[in-house]
Amino acid sequence: MNFSANFDRFQEVVRHRRSCRIYEQQALPAGLVQQALELAMLSPNSSNMQLWEFHHISTPAVIRSLGPACLDQKAVSTASELVVFVARRDLFRERADRLVANQLKVMGKEKRSDLSTPERKLIDYWDRLMPLLYRHCCGFWTLVRKLAVWWTAWRKPQYREVSETDMRVVAHKSVSLAAQTFMLAIAAAGYDSCPLEGFDSSRVKKILGLGKRSEITMIVSCGKRSAAGIYGERFRLPPADVYFQH
Ligand SMILES: Cc1cc2nc3c(=O)[nH]c(=O)nc-3n(C[C@H](O)[C@H](O)[C@H](O)COP(=O)(O)O)c2cc1C
Repeated sequence: MNFSANFDRFQEVVRHRRSCRIYEQQALPAGLVQQALELAMLSPNSSNMQLWEFHHISTPAVIRSLGPACLDQKAVSTASELVVFVARRDLFRERADRLVANQLKVMGKEKRSDLSTPERKLIDYWDRLMPLLYRHCCGFWTLVRKLAVWWTAWRKPQYREVSETDMRVVAHKSVSLAAQTFMLAIAAAGYDSCPLEGFDSSRVKKILGLGKRSEITMIVSCGKRSAAGIYGERFRLPPADVYFQH
């Protein structure tokens, strides 16, 4: 079916993207990774909390030092550049404050007392609900949130994914969407990438000086594909096995 020229171009980009395990020794155009990351930052993300960080590694010595921590995968050792996609749940308060400040500015209001009831509800979403969902302390807040859900869910539909583990999933979902936007941007420029979860997170964090609370969602290596770097034809299950219309 023909929808639009943009759709055709988008299909080309999606079909071009393959996980590349070996790259040519060829630098990426200057600024490509930064620009692709700026597009990644436009990705949809949970409550717009933007609990993410993007660590761009372009220094050959650092890429070399990350090789063993990435289990000696050639997708890393032959890469021109790497991006480490990091979830930062711990920054919930700082991000919420910035969203509140932005929303007050959009509303043209200076303080809480100037807000109408609907405006206060919107501000409270970030100022109160988000911290309530993200805060954690030895399972205590998970228990409080689960009890609150149990109490309200028998009367009306209720969002139920409120445990600390659920909130980790929430954060990593958003970071993964950013990683996908990034990989498609790299593909649109005619270059290649490989998402990686095969690494020793503790060693990678040590090399990059990331704190204990930074959680690595994935590493994406980038470069120009070598023909040998694409391992065979792409295999996907037939749509009929995974597509269900309701
Ligand atoms: C979250 C995630 C982690 C992955 N980790 C690795 C990895 O550590 N090493 C690797 O060679 N490929 C890795 N891959 C790539 C997958 O194996 C690849 O996407 C899959 O085989 C489909 O191939 P395609 O991307 O070429 O379509 C990963 C993919 C994803 C989405």
